[in-house]
This record gives sequence, C-alpha cells and structure tokens, in this order.
Amino acid sequence: MNDEEYYNFVRPYADAMQMLLTRLDVLNHNLYGKSDSRPIHYIQNRIKKKKSLEEKLIRRGKEPTVDNAKDYLQDIAGVRIICYFVDDIYNLAKSLKRQADLIVIREQDYIKAPKPNGYRSYHLIVGVPVYCMDGMEYFPVEVQLRTLSMDFWASMEHRISYKKERADKEELTTELLGYANQLQEIEKSFESHNEIGKLKEPEKMEKDMAKPENTDSPIIS
Ligand code: GTP
Ligand code: MG
Repeated sequence: MNDEEYYNFVRPYADAMQMLLTRLDVLNHNLYGKSDSRPIHYIQNRIKKKKSLEEKLIRRGKEPTVDNAKDYLQDIAGVRIICYFVDDIYNLAKSLKRQADLIVIREQDYIKAPKPNGYRSYHLIVGVPVYCMDGMEYFPVEVQLRTLSMDFWASMEHRISYKKERADKEELTTELLGYANQLQEIEKSFESHNEIGKLKEPEKMEKDMAKPENTDSPIIS
C-alpha cells in the first residue's frame, strides 16, 4: 500500500478512537460520585504505523494490502487505559459494554486468567459506529485496561523480553513471573487501603440528579 492509501484507510479508525476517548473522558469524571476518586490515571492511544501494519500482515502470511488490514487486523486503533485499582477496570469495562451503540467484538480477561508469563490486563475490542455520507460502519478499537502495576510489568517485559530472542530467555521468564506475582501482592495491599472504587448507588444518584447543587444558578432551558 502507498502512503495515500494508508492515510485514507486509517482515517475512520482514528475517528472511532477519538469518539471512544471522549466517552472514556465522560466516564472518568462521572463513574463514581466523588471528583477525587476518578478511576483513570492516564490514557495512551495510537494508530498502528504503516510499517508495523504491513509487518504484522506479512507475519501472518498475508499480502500487505489495505483490504487485508481491514479483514485481519483489529488493533489498528489502540487505547490503553491505566487505572488505579482492579475494580476500576471492571467498572469501566462494564460501563463501556452497557453503551448500547457500541459492540463488543472480543473480550479477553488476562486478569482473571493471566498469561503463563505473568502478563495481566483486560482486553476489549469494541466496534465504534462511524457515520459518513453513505451510512454507518463499525470500526474496531482495541482497548487495554491495566492498573499501574500491570502496566509497569508489561512495559518492562515488552522492553526486555516480549517477542525477542535471548540466550537467557528461560531464566528471565522465571524472574519476570516472580516480579508479576510480587507486584500483584503489592497491588492487593494498596487495594486493602482503598475506601472508594465502589460504584455510586443508583438511588443516591437519582436523588442527586433531582436536587441541583447550586439553586442560585440560572436554569437553562
Ligand atoms: P498481537 O498479535 O501481539 O496483537 O497479539 P494477539 O492478537 O494474539 O492478542 P493478545 O491479546 O495476545 O495481545 C494483544 C496486545 O496485548 C499485544 O499487542 C500487546 O500490546 C499486549 N500483550 C499481550 N501479551 C503480552 C505480553 O505477554 N507482554 C506484553 N508486554 N504485552 C502483551
Ligand atoms: Mg497488537
């Protein structure tokens, strides 16, 4: 594919990702009642570069064309959400899945079932509707939800080991698995000190909505 084909191809994926980021921002400030207990620490996002898109197709034995990229790749748009606590991850994922116009294409819970190397994260591929002149189409966005400690481990493992050939691979794998377990213990300790992370009860939410915080403010109709 040439540069122009690539840029035209990825545009709707970037649009889908942008819309999802806005929804995440909304969830971040209204998922819980209190403003000092937002679930998201930070979000990273990226559109797969032309070179890595082509390399991934070739690795899978496919011609590096835009048609194949559309048919075989679901991580062209990627969003990584770094949360404070495991509960935040499940609450966010639940809220996203409840949004009626999004579709869940794939869901993998590597927190409940970590990979043998110790990798933990919650993966969700969501289809985001993108409207254009001719109608609507769902575009996939890969969402990875992690806590800070899961991201620390995955980032370090990615740098030193993931998909790399090394002479000391076996010892390193054992060492990394040990770190993953230690980090999980630390994460649990922090969790035990967390009072928040609980979804606001629906009744309280309804009451709050009925009662405006500042009654002096003008009513906009
Ligand atoms: P890819 O071809 O790498 O996209 O994997 P996949 O399509 O089989 O899906 P999977 O859920 O295994 O991985 C998707 C993404 O999760 C990867 O591209 C990485 O960003 C991340 N990931 C999965 N496994 C690991 C791991 O063992 N270590 C690290 N650091 N990241 C991982
Ligand atoms: Mg990938």
